[in-house]
Amino acid sequence: MSLTQKTAQLVARLGEIASEHRPVALANSLSIEDMVLTHLILENKIPVEIFSLDTGRLHEETLKVIDDVRERYGYRIAVYYPDAEELQAYVANNGVNGFYNSVEQRKGCCHVRKVRPLQRALKGKQAWITGMRRSHGETRTDLQEKQWDSGNGLWKYNPLADWQEKEIWQLIRDNQIPYNSLYDKHYASIGCQPCTRSITMGEDVRAGRWWWEDPQNKECGLHVEATPISILPADDSPAEVGQRSYDGGDQG
Ligand code: ADX
Ligand code: SF4
Repeated sequence: MSLTQKTAQLVARLGEIASEHRPVALANSLSIEDMVLTHLILENKIPVEIFSLDTGRLHEETLKVIDDVRERYGYRIAVYYPDAEELQAYVANNGVNGFYNSVEQRKGCCHVRKVRPLQRALKGKQAWITGMRRSHGETRTDLQEKQWDSGNGLWKYNPLADWQEKEIWQLIRDNQIPYNSLYDKHYASIGCQPCTRSITMGEDVRAGRWWWEDPQNKECGLHVEATPISILPADDSPAEVGQRSYDGGDQG
């Protein structure tokens, strides 16, 4: 299949998702994958809201992409921030850079800075979309295109699951889609500044994320609780699985 056909299929799929679930949102980390999805959603006027989680520790280069989207498409990405009191408590207990001390402390920081704001961003949504791909690494090799996100109580779609990095880059270049300039400095997967480094030839795409940890730990908690539909019991409908309760909060 040509890239043009694959892209047309992706646009059709995004349209289907948007008509099946209202409201639906794209979680945009400002990665090349999320920028391809953003471009296709906005250019084709597909009714999908777009939000980013600003952890407070992102690179300047990453934050600039939020402004680039506003300039190029006239669209304001909704930005969600960590809760100030939760963050203050985490830092009081663990220090400003406590995430280097242990996997537990690192996951605690990701929980306060990413997972909790995600819960607020997903409040009231019927489904969410991510830019994850199977070839991202060993934690994602079994990634399904559609999953029931039992942690957050809504459907989750990964429409780029079977896309390759070179296809993503081709679309970025063909359409001059804005992207994070750190990719031009050998960064291949970009998260928070203190937890991301550039990679060298032959390293996995996510080798620069939490590089001091074992590869099987390399998830921040945004994506650990999703259940592939193939392993849900036959009579288990999403409504029966139940909705997680949120503690409220508004958009940052
Ligand atoms: S992570 O779990 O290791 O941080 P990764 O950076 O690969 O995830 O991103 C995978 C997907 O998670 C992105 O395509 C995006 O949908 C979502 N995501 C990750 N970080 C953010 C963020 N800061 N804001 C919004 N969405 C995010
Ligand atoms: Fe904290 Fe690092 Fe996780 Fe960012 S990636 S939320 S700085 S532990």
